[in-house]
Amino acid sequence: MTPMLLYMHIPFCDSKCHYCSFNSYVDKFHLKQRYMRALHIQLQEDLQRFQVMPHSITSLFIGGGTPSTITPELYEPLFKTLHPYLCTDAEMTVEVNPNSATHSWLQGMHHLGINRMSFGVQSFHNEKLRHLGRSHNRDDAIGAITAASELGVEHISLDLIYATAFDTPTLINEDLKQAFALPIDHLSAYALTIEEGTVFQHQPDVAIEHLEQTRALFATIEQYGFTQYEISNFGTYTSRHNLGYWQHRPYLGIGAGAVGSINHQRYYPHRDIEAYLEAPCFTTLETLHSSDIKREQLFLGLRSIVGIANHLLKATEQQRARVLVDDKKLTFKQGVFYNNDYLLSDEIALFIED
Ligand SMILES: C[S@@+](CC[C@H](N)C(=O)[O-])C[C@H]1O[C@@H](n2cnc3c(N)ncnc32)[C@H](O)[C@@H]1O
Ligand code: SF4
Repeated sequence: MTPMLLYMHIPFCDSKCHYCSFNSYVDKFHLKQRYMRALHIQLQEDLQRFQVMPHSITSLFIGGGTPSTITPELYEPLFKTLHPYLCTDAEMTVEVNPNSATHSWLQGMHHLGINRMSFGVQSFHNEKLRHLGRSHNRDDAIGAITAASELGVEHISLDLIYATAFDTPTLINEDLKQAFALPIDHLSAYALTIEEGTVFQHQPDVAIEHLEQTRALFATIEQYGFTQYEISNFGTYTSRHNLGYWQHRPYLGIGAGAVGSINHQRYYPHRDIEAYLEAPCFTTLETLHSSDIKREQLFLGLRSIVGIANHLLKATEQQRARVLVDDKKLTFKQGVFYNNDYLLSDEIALFIED
């Protein structure tokens, strides 16, 4: 039985953050109920189409957009359908925006079986949050995370954004201090990237990365006791879903703008919400050639604890990887090359690749 991951996309947001290019709408709330029905139709179809076996889904990730814009009642039919396909200890994550995570919403999702919540905090500084175009403040974030913990949610994560023009080393250290004062077992720290079609596209100078500051950030997070298991992810708990992507496990992708990957094919449902509502089961297929798969394994493996197995590399590539072992950039253990510095992962991958 092949273990499988499931990603579910919720394309609604209360407002659009200045940096974000994820598929989400701020003016289509009237479509929520129809959207959840369409999502259910695609879920049922995909479970059949890909002959998903009972108990084979090891993780569910509900992402967005903003999953906390949808009431637990609207998720319920999907969870009912999904239940027989989930393994007994499935990791079930939902992304949560601090401004829309009411106590009853958190409780409702927990009752449905959600055992991991990932909060889009970005910063605990209200001024920085305003610059990023966020619609929550520091107290909303602290309140929502505390409430989730009091409800007994097993795993709690939060996202921070760094490498912005609004940062100083002091601000970043204060954000980390506040993050670690909360009951979290996981933290994602993302360097700001400038994306097309966002407010920041016209202000590219707001993204500034100083590598020595990034290294200091990583070191501080480790001092708080979290292990880095990917360039942007740290924890005392390793997310099974995240790790599954980097290990190239098959995943179902449901919802407008989601992506699935199964049997060496990637599939894309409609990105446009109206087109998706018309035809939730329509997908565009992309065949992955073995060279594409190997390239991804190389880049993802070097960004994470997954590493790259020696047997995946050609003889010339193995030779170059060994040069990097001598240079202490990589470590070789039981047939796998591991990266010692994730910030160099792309350069190392390009150096090794034929
Ligand atoms: C897809 S978003 C959804 C999460 C949720 N809607 C929220 O914002 O709270 C997941 C995370 O991606 C990160 N992110 C999105 N766009 C980014 C960008 N351009 N640069 C860096 N991080 C970004 C943010 O940290 C965000 O919390
Ligand atoms: S960061 Fe989250 S809340 Fe902001 S626009 Fe993107 S998906 Fe929506």
